Amino acid sequence: MAGNRKIILTGDRPTGKLHVGHYAGSLKRRVELQDSGEFQQIFIMIADAQALTDNADHPAKIRENIMEVALDYLSVGIDPAKSTIFVQSHISELTELSFYYMNLVTVSRLQRNPTVKAEIQMRNFETSIPVGFFTYPISQAADITAFEATTVPVGEDQAPMLEQTREIVHKFNSVYGETLVEPQILLPDNEACLRLPGTDGKAKMSKSLGNCIYLSESEEDVRKKVMSMFTDPDHIRIQDPGKLEGNTVFTYLDAFSRQEHFAEYLPEYANLDELKEHYQRGGLGDVKVKKFLNSVMQEELSPIRARRARYEKDIEGVYEILRSGSELAKETAAKTLDKVKHAMKIDYFTDQTFLAEQKEKYSR
Ligand code: TRP
Repeated sequence: MAGNRKIILTGDRPTGKLHVGHYAGSLKRRVELQDSGEFQQIFIMIADAQALTDNADHPAKIRENIMEVALDYLSVGIDPAKSTIFVQSHISELTELSFYYMNLVTVSRLQRNPTVKAEIQMRNFETSIPVGFFTYPISQAADITAFEATTVPVGEDQAPMLEQTREIVHKFNSVYGETLVEPQILLPDNEACLRLPGTDGKAKMSKSLGNCIYLSESEEDVRKKVMSMFTDPDHIRIQDPGKLEGNTVFTYLDAFSRQEHFAEYLPEYANLDELKEHYQRGGLGDVKVKKFLNSVMQEELSPIRARRARYEKDIEGVYEILRSGSELAKETAAKTLDKVKHAMKIDYFTDQTFLAEQKEKYSR
């Protein structure tokens, strides 16, 4: 057991570059948690093995994105001196843990997992669901428990995974004795950050829709995307009253703007409430609001861009961060696996009592 230690484990599938939705929903919080000094250990995992559960025929895509995601992590301020960044597939202990946890979960319980359900629909798997994909919530429980994580900062869509993990922990501990640590989910505290929409106003940000703002995007590309964002389609003339609901520009302002931004870029308004009020009353044009959002986004993204440029010049250094992080993660997971096998009484060759018991039994 981890005692009073506080440990973070979280991660992302390397299926593409990370975007501002990842940033608002999770990455920004991770950096704050990292810098709070409250955690003894922080593990950030590039979940390539999980990514392969629904990308079995696209290994090159996953391989491509390992370095991309590592650069995204480092560029937002994840500091390898404070956080261990590692690659999931290197930690073979995770597959072993998953195999044992599979005995504690029913098929019907997996079928009820709402995130898995939604993903099955989205990918049109229907009757041809890969078994590995179907069981990924179990492997996610292995990821979390292997590091004795107490805290898992993730987006809202991961809540069912955490629930499933906690059930596995309870079940394991009640069957085999107190062994695993029960994790807590940590959701973003800002409502707008929970689910940032795409720039076209669609709920889902996706590469194929071209509606994401990537962390690695240039200043000019970010500006273009902001200036063409979806707003209120009925707000045609400046004097028309505008709606805030479903207005992507305002959702992004909810997520990213701070009081200081007004003094700096839009001093006619004291804060976001005043700006919203004017927009609803009529007389405030979309272009002005978008220009303000662009300033806010550029302020947030420009240090990220600068850090990325530095790391891109030292790919060998980034590779070494991943390699050494993965070694440390493996040692950590191996310790948990030992405890698990001991609790399950399958540690025959490390537990001296096995031989003694058998000798005793057969000498009678
Ligand atoms: N499911 C997460 C995603 O889709 C990635 C992930 C894998 C993860 N294992 C995890 C997140 C453990 C948190 C904890 O991005």
